[in-house]
Amino acid sequence: MIDTWDELIHKCNSCTSCDLAKTRTNVVVGVGNKNAEVLFIGEGPGENEDLRGEPFVGRGGQLLDKMLAAVDLDRNKNIYIANMVKCRPPKNRDPLPQEQEQCLGWLRNQVQLIRPKIIVCLGRVSATRLIKKDMKITKEHGIFFEKNGVLLMATLHPAALLRNPNNKPDAFQDFLKLRDKIKEICDHTYD
Ligand code: URA
Ligand code: SF4
Repeated sequence: MIDTWDELIHKCNSCTSCDLAKTRTNVVVGVGNKNAEVLFIGEGPGENEDLRGEPFVGRGGQLLDKMLAAVDLDRNKNIYIANMVKCRPPKNRDPLPQEQEQCLGWLRNQVQLIRPKIIVCLGRVSATRLIKKDMKITKEHGIFFEKNGVLLMATLHPAALLRNPNNKPDAFQDFLKLRDKIKEICDHTYD
């Protein structure tokens, strides 16, 4: 494990461990408060993220920021946001299993440095890898699962909400449950 952020960011930015390195513009390491008690994990960078080097900066990101703001969460204040893979899969295809496994070391290292109390999986890709293989987001969103002393919960991916706005109330309920859980177990997220 790498034990400083400077070194992690530097090395991750020059990673060529999988083929996604060949087509990326920027490595998207993550954004937010490195002492956050809540960590959000998406799938992988899209076009806007690849160009900007920051996660969730497109239309889905704007929706995510709005839902976060509704429960007093803010990427520039009290949470950290990362992805399963740090480089954009071509044409936004799902990251391949071997790409995810190659990249997982970076995410594990980020988790070791942040030591979050709660991890929120945004969408199926992170939920099936991090919570359980047969995770069904449509049925099991908003439920907290405990793993190694960390609570994990999945919610619908913002891009899925843009495709299917009927599901926005369900996602909003998840954010309210998250707010309640934060109030219950976190020390300084709402300071
Ligand atoms: N979708 C994701 O899963 N992550 C991003 O950073 C952007 C879009
Ligand atoms: Fe390295 Fe991850 Fe990028 Fe692959 S996706 S090159 S493992 S940082």
